[in-house]
Amino acid sequence: MTERIITKHAGEKDTHTLRVYQSHGGYEALKKVLQDWSPEDVIAEVKKSNLRGRGGAGFPAGVKWGFVPKETDKPKYLCINGDEGEPGTFKDRWIMLHEPHMMIEGAIITCYAIGIHTAYIYIRGEYDEPIARMEGALAEAYAASLLGKNILGSGFDLDIYVHRGAGAYICGEETALLESLEGKKGWPRLKPPFPAAVGLFGCPTVINNIETLSFIPHIINRGGEWFAGLGTERDGGTRLFSVSGHVKKPGVYELPMGYPLDKIIFEQAGGIVDDRPLKAVIPGGVSAPVLTPEEIKIPASFDSLAKAGSMLGSGAIIVMHDGTCMVQALQRITHFFSHESCGQCTPCREGTRWVDKVLDSIFRGEATLEDLDLLASITSNMIGQTICPLGDADAMQIQAFITKFRDDFERHIRDGRCPLDI
Ligand SMILES: Cc1cc2nc3c(=O)[nH]c(=O)nc-3n(C[C@H](O)[C@H](O)[C@H](O)COP(=O)(O)O)c2cc1C
Ligand code: SF4
Repeated sequence: MTERIITKHAGEKDTHTLRVYQSHGGYEALKKVLQDWSPEDVIAEVKKSNLRGRGGAGFPAGVKWGFVPKETDKPKYLCINGDEGEPGTFKDRWIMLHEPHMMIEGAIITCYAIGIHTAYIYIRGEYDEPIARMEGALAEAYAASLLGKNILGSGFDLDIYVHRGAGAYICGEETALLESLEGKKGWPRLKPPFPAAVGLFGCPTVINNIETLSFIPHIINRGGEWFAGLGTERDGGTRLFSVSGHVKKPGVYELPMGYPLDKIIFEQAGGIVDDRPLKAVIPGGVSAPVLTPEEIKIPASFDSLAKAGSMLGSGAIIVMHDGTCMVQALQRITHFFSHESCGQCTPCREGTRWVDKVLDSIFRGEATLEDLDLLASITSNMIGQTICPLGDADAMQIQAFITKFRDDFERHIRDGRCPLDI
């Protein structure tokens, strides 16, 4: 049995309430920090923990915080990313529903460490229940002097607001999220400047994922070294994996960083439905290039998945058995990306739509083998040519599917129909 941190009390009653959270030692880390720790102490402990961002890119949290200028006459902001738009991802939802105070406590400590007095939680618009839970938890925290002016008599002030998204996947990208919070169209910004220097309303800003911040109270309570020791050399702690698709027990699993990917599927999630053969695994949300069954005997960590040519991303593991039409699976993914492209860069706007049309014609049995070369050419002209990684993600996923499952695509084209009769 591996140690669980965020989901330790899963299944217990009313874990979302302040009363139950405090009965589990909640807000003790905050008290400790406000009484005895300097902001620098907090940042140093988080650096020691090797906590890497759980939103997708896996950037070390303590290092990111260290980029924010200490001396500035501008206000600084924390934006908490609860957009959770990456298909297959549903772990931040779990935290908001069951442990909202853990995230709030982590956010308060983070703001104290960086000298922030205003934070926003940007939550996916469809998440009615998590939004209600989050708002309820914030109200409880204000009533208990854990938020607002002079928190617990420490002299530190912080306000946290919930902002509801309006249904665009791209608003999960950190700079599009800032634009959206400012009331504008959610278009990603060119970087540099990075948000740590020029972020929300032109001020220094840290953007962190809901899960990333939920680990902070535990790192304070038990130490950065303890957290680092749970994971691999460069990836500290546990992480929440959202496992979906053709597994017997889909759900959210908290496991140490570096836990074997094949064991997550075959042991934790119970294996493949009806014990059918495994065909493919997407290891980190649909932006993460697909893996074959031979490629999944690896540690599920940021570094090892990057080495395997994919990504740990948001930790969303999508499992497909042998009854999956790989052409249709890819067609759905490309349709999603073409629909969600913000349209700002030509290679992404035109490229995602073009590949979507080509894949549709392959699926309908109306394409030729040259269309596979056309896809290779379009996608190689998309990669590295855009403002944000959405265009790259689509192109790289197409290249991975076609390289690894080329027979499926060729059979579709040659037979003029889906061999699986889908
Ligand atoms: C297209 C796109 C969508 C993204 N969606 C999310 C999201 O829904 N939630 C999230 O936390 N990060 C998302 N990210 C990653 C964020 O840009 C950013 O890296 C993250 O919020 C930083 O927090 P972290 O360092 O704690 O991971 C997305 C990135 C891209 C390119
Ligand atoms: S890559 Fe696509 S989604 Fe990203 S900024 Fe360019 S057009 Fe928008």
